[in-house]
Amino acid sequence: MKDVDTTKMSADDWDELNFPRPEVQEFDRVVERAISRRGFLGGVLAFGSGAAVMGTSFLKGSTAMAQGTQRFPFEAIAAQTDDTVHVPEGYSWNVLVRWGDALKPEAVGAWDPQNGVSVEMSDKVFGENTDGMELFEIDGRQILVVNSEYTNRPVNLPHAEDGVPTSLDDVRILQHLQGVNIFEISEGENGWRVLIDSPYNRRIHHNSPMTFSGPAAGHDLLKTAADPFGNMSRGTFNNCGSGRTPWGTYLTCEENFNGYFGSSDESHSALSLTHEAGFQRYGVGTSGWGYDYHKWDSRFDVALNPNEPHRAGYIVEIDPSDPNSTPVKHTALGRFKHENAAYALADDGRFVVYMGDDERGEYMYKWVSAEPYVEGGDTSRLMIDGTLHVAKFSDDLTGEWVPLTPGTTGMTEAEIAVFTRMAGSAVNATTMDRPEWIAVNPTAPEAYCCLTNNSRRGLINEDGTVRTNAGGEPMVVNAPNPRELNNYGQIVRWRPEGGDHGATTFEWDLYVMAGNPTVHDDAYAGSDNINAGNLFNSPDGMMIDTTGLIWIQTDGNDGNEGDFAGMGNNQMLAGDPETGEIRRFLTGPKGCEVTGLTWSSDRRTMFVGIQHPGDDDGQFPDYNGSLARSTVIAVKRDDGGLIG
Ligand code: FEO
Ligand code: CA
Ligand code: CA
Repeated sequence: MKDVDTTKMSADDWDELNFPRPEVQEFDRVVERAISRRGFLGGVLAFGSGAAVMGTSFLKGSTAMAQGTQRFPFEAIAAQTDDTVHVPEGYSWNVLVRWGDALKPEAVGAWDPQNGVSVEMSDKVFGENTDGMELFEIDGRQILVVNSEYTNRPVNLPHAEDGVPTSLDDVRILQHLQGVNIFEISEGENGWRVLIDSPYNRRIHHNSPMTFSGPAAGHDLLKTAADPFGNMSRGTFNNCGSGRTPWGTYLTCEENFNGYFGSSDESHSALSLTHEAGFQRYGVGTSGWGYDYHKWDSRFDVALNPNEPHRAGYIVEIDPSDPNSTPVKHTALGRFKHENAAYALADDGRFVVYMGDDERGEYMYKWVSAEPYVEGGDTSRLMIDGTLHVAKFSDDLTGEWVPLTPGTTGMTEAEIAVFTRMAGSAVNATTMDRPEWIAVNPTAPEAYCCLTNNSRRGLINEDGTVRTNAGGEPMVVNAPNPRELNNYGQIVRWRPEGGDHGATTFEWDLYVMAGNPTVHDDAYAGSDNINAGNLFNSPDGMMIDTTGLIWIQTDGNDGNEGDFAGMGNNQMLAGDPETGEIRRFLTGPKGCEVTGLTWSSDRRTMFVGIQHPGDDDGQFPDYNGSLARSTVIAVKRDDGGLIG
């Protein structure tokens, strides 16, 4: 993008720059929606006044804070603004692996503190920007699978001005440093280390072969010159959050895939109407998010390969036990900016996957398989045969999962799989404040979703209309997303009817609304479980451990001033689902996002991801003039006790 430094711009801001949201809206519909909320709001008209109308009982949180609870095995730590990691007294952390570290014997020494890695070594080292991760115990070995979400181009291509690729080799470095890392780790006297000669070690990147399953596999929308049958893909993209299946496979989630594509036709003038509409809704522009793949690798030039973007944006299943297995892109679980994939089993054993679409005003989804999961049975069709649903929240604290079928949407099954967002709009799904990670509580029949923020919620355009999502749906405030210009975020929780994750209805509440009570005394102060000691914004990563503690990771404004005063660097907190109490457990180095969390098999080590620590000119974790390095750290209790 000309005159814009995309390395400093969020994916959502970039999308809106490429595709300005329409300003002419169905005004009557907006008002009607707002007024229809009067019942829940106690007769107060919501439109135009944001969260102030939500009612104090709602804002004070639905969970009473129990006094004197000792649910937490640690004392909360203070906010920090320095360039390192902090954990509570009685805990320690160490580096496990950093981008550029060898995952293969031939890559030992590949890393240079000023120059990064060469193209030859770039697919043999730990990738950039660690994100979702899961640990698998396979034949008694600890196999860690970690996403590498995107690149920090100036850090990954230090020889290129502003990190802009100047050759196909540069593009290959970027392509190789993203995707998925699979490697064995072991704990010895000196802590955890990567076993670089393990047969399980594998890198999957933007050029790795994979197949498609589900209704879009083999469909015209997926066919390209290189894949005339539309059933073989290359590459998995922008691998954000993670998930796993009960049968031991890894799920990697393709998020901001649109940014890899550009066009040699600067006006998209030759596109079909179908492509044009899809590119608008999914944000496929002509210039790309600065990766410049399309200038060097024609696969990413949509003027030449308009279907290539249809081949990204999926849930991808990887078998970490077989380094020769081919990953599968499951189109039945929909195409959108997938954040993570949190599974549960319905009471009758059907396989359920909760998923969020992380963009302002997009939706939350749930997959339910047709057949039950049976341990040791055939699992090959559990992400092929079934029904995708989208969430519709009601103001009376109930909601439903609406099935996305030809009958409900007027679209074919293949169209629903490829243009899932349009299917969600067709059934009037609830626009959300950027659904990030979803976590299922293993100790209670409930699930949670981080709604990270939405600074455009309720924004009034210059002509008096309300800002919309990319599909033209007005982002007026609604019950689970009750604040205009929501810069803090909230976590919504739902309990399926009858405690059965297979049910199509649920009850919901807000577990927490982040905010700042030291600055505000209205809705932006946050819910009752926010206080000066646990301030944070933009909840993003989330996992619930075996004891039921909710681990919340943040990716927000770490400027530590104004609305964000007292919050410090991005962090990880723990929340008690029953009392609502939240305590800060870990702070990351300045500029970073804390994202990705898993545990060793014995649950005595917690692995935490530190992403883009160099964003504020930091040098974590090597310092001494080194390039910053995204890092997975291992956190332990000093007494060797269980940690989650
Ligand atoms: Fe990759 Fe929505 O975070
Ligand atoms: Ca995230
Ligand atoms: Ca985020």
